[in-house]
Amino acid sequence: MKQQFENYTVEDFKVWKTLFERQVNNLQDKSCESYLHCLDELNDVLNSNSIPRFDALSKVLKEKTGWSIEVVPGLIPVEDFFELLSQKKFCSSTWLRSMEQLDYLEEPDMFHDIFGHIPLFMDEKYADFAQKMGEVGVQFKDSEKILIELQRIYRFTIEFGLLKGSQPQIYGAGVISSFGETNFIYEEGTEMLPFDLNEIINTDFCNSEIQTKYFLLNSFDELYESFEKYVMKVGALASF
Ligand SMILES: [Fe+2]
Repeated sequence: MKQQFENYTVEDFKVWKTLFERQVNNLQDKSCESYLHCLDELNDVLNSNSIPRFDALSKVLKEKTGWSIEVVPGLIPVEDFFELLSQKKFCSSTWLRSMEQLDYLEEPDMFHDIFGHIPLFMDEKYADFAQKMGEVGVQFKDSEKILIELQRIYRFTIEFGLLKGSQPQIYGAGVISSFGETNFIYEEGTEMLPFDLNEIINTDFCNSEIQTKYFLLNSFDELYESFEKYVMKVGALASF
């Protein structure tokens, strides 16, 4: 599948610009430093002026860390998703929400997939962690138990992960791409726990419920090293 750039409407460009500008503003003191740094590095190919061209974005990513964007029609089977991660390919849809639905999404759109996820694939350590997760997913594609554990790890890191700071620093794409959730994490009632992979693999989640539990990492090094230990524990072949 390819991105059909000529199909985007004037409204789509307007939605992209609105979402991008509002969220970059909102994230300045809330996202982790690496995210903002990566976003800056991608500025020529990822900015508010235009819906990004996936080919151009992939080219810059590839040069830095070897990653690229794989266009998918929507949510895909978890086995295929891990297979793509192991090949340094991150899935993105190409559709964009409407102006009436700026803050409401049933399924991830391009703003979530690209703005939320792609910048951190410029960060070597983060990107390596994601690829290793893919490798383990491929190796254990027939183990329901390991696939569930990996999905929990993915959920509490890549989607909803936070880093420690004077206040929590967001790196999870589910929060980074959402104006509401970015501000929600600072409200009372959210549970902030120290990062613990053993606890994460035993923590169930529900996609349709708002996230209230977060695990705070010290650094992407900690993420990588914790995952390395997990890999040794389950006897996976992922090479570190
Ligand atoms: Fe996501």
